Amino acid sequence: MDDKLEEIKNILKKYNQEHLLNHYETLDETHKKELLEQIEEIDFELANSLYQNVGKQEKQEDKITPIEYLDKYKLYDDYKYYENIGKKAIREGKLAAVTMAGGQGTRLGHKGPKGTYDIGLTSHKSLFELLCDHLKEEGKKYDVIIPWFIMTSKENNKETIEFFEKNRYFGYQKNKNIFFFNQGELPMMDTEGKILIGEDGLIKQAADGHGGIYESLLKTGMTKEMKQMGIEWVFIAGVDNCLAKMVDPVLMGIAIDKGVTVACKSVVKANPQEKVGVFCRRNGKPNVIEYSEITEEMAQEADENGELLYGESHILCNLFKVEAVERMGATPLPYHVAYKKASYIDKEGKLIEPTSPNAYKFEAFLFDAFGEVDDMAILRVKREEEFAPVKNADAVGVDCPKTARELYQKFMDRI
Ligand code: UTP
Repeated sequence: MDDKLEEIKNILKKYNQEHLLNHYETLDETHKKELLEQIEEIDFELANSLYQNVGKQEKQEDKITPIEYLDKYKLYDDYKYYENIGKKAIREGKLAAVTMAGGQGTRLGHKGPKGTYDIGLTSHKSLFELLCDHLKEEGKKYDVIIPWFIMTSKENNKETIEFFEKNRYFGYQKNKNIFFFNQGELPMMDTEGKILIGEDGLIKQAADGHGGIYESLLKTGMTKEMKQMGIEWVFIAGVDNCLAKMVDPVLMGIAIDKGVTVACKSVVKANPQEKVGVFCRRNGKPNVIEYSEITEEMAQEADENGELLYGESHILCNLFKVEAVERMGATPLPYHVAYKKASYIDKEGKLIEPTSPNAYKFEAFLFDAFGEVDDMAILRVKREEEFAPVKNADAVGVDCPKTARELYQKFMDRI
């Protein structure tokens, strides 16, 4: 133990992070051990370079061009053709769903994992249960159980599993057709580049963004599990879209027929100024461009039919071939920085609860991996059928429980 401690002290000295052991002696044995393990796991070179890059302009010389897409409701005769291909694959058990539920849900402000949130329907079903209802219903149509993989963060894993246990996994069976896995984490840093210590005396870590999905699916052995189960395709979506249509034979049929390994859904932008990321090509490769990167002129550009050239919003509803996930998981993604409020223990051992942002959090974005494929299919679907996000608290008025509830109810009334 002493040798180990000495070794760790040297590492911390090298990276100017010696304060991480400031309160070591006040911890109990279990926490002492945990802290040392955490420190050993930190990639300080990476952490250093992430800090050094904060505030540096990201490359701007990329060539952005529009990307082709299909409109689900303008496929005409092809609709049935693709649908039949997809239906066959689903019946053969080749599709699984992955729900990304590792986010912090800071904007929503719900205490507990976002998936446990009740959006206020008369049934009081949680987001997890609404998604599960959809999976079960679709599974019945094809006489299969759609395997469900749920990504949690270390922070919310225990609470998520307890919630599922309490609800008897909504009829699913743990480790048979429902699986939980953790995403990676990165330490949070203050503006001086010092790693923060949380209220428990341990390193303050935060989930590494939804882009962590590929690496965690690969590292936790989930892709291996999938292949053993005969799964070839995974539909990956966020936990906070209660209308996510995860079982879509048309999308799947298109991907199979066109021989692409990624097929994404889009909804058309509500207006050219809407603050959403849109599909594009970046230096010829499929990608998503953030609203902050797009010029006003580009946002307005339309084709001869009046359709926006950059109008296909990315809604985090994407289908991947399992091999593509594995490839993406083995390729490091760039990290983006977010400036967040994070409570921490200061030098004197006092808990500080800031009222404004004070810490850097580093996140990878799922769509940064799109450049790994030469081509992908994009299918425009109807917003009112497939997109009801729960991002903000009701007071904000958009993408909040109230708007999601209304969209969900309207959709249910129609079918
Ligand atoms: P968002 O970033 O939009 O939402 O993630 P969030 O993290 O839940 O909430 P804020 O930003 O703190 O308010 C979109 C989806 O990606 C998942 C989220 O759970 C959500 O379903 N996600 C995000 C992860 O699974 N892990 C992450 O590290 C980040």
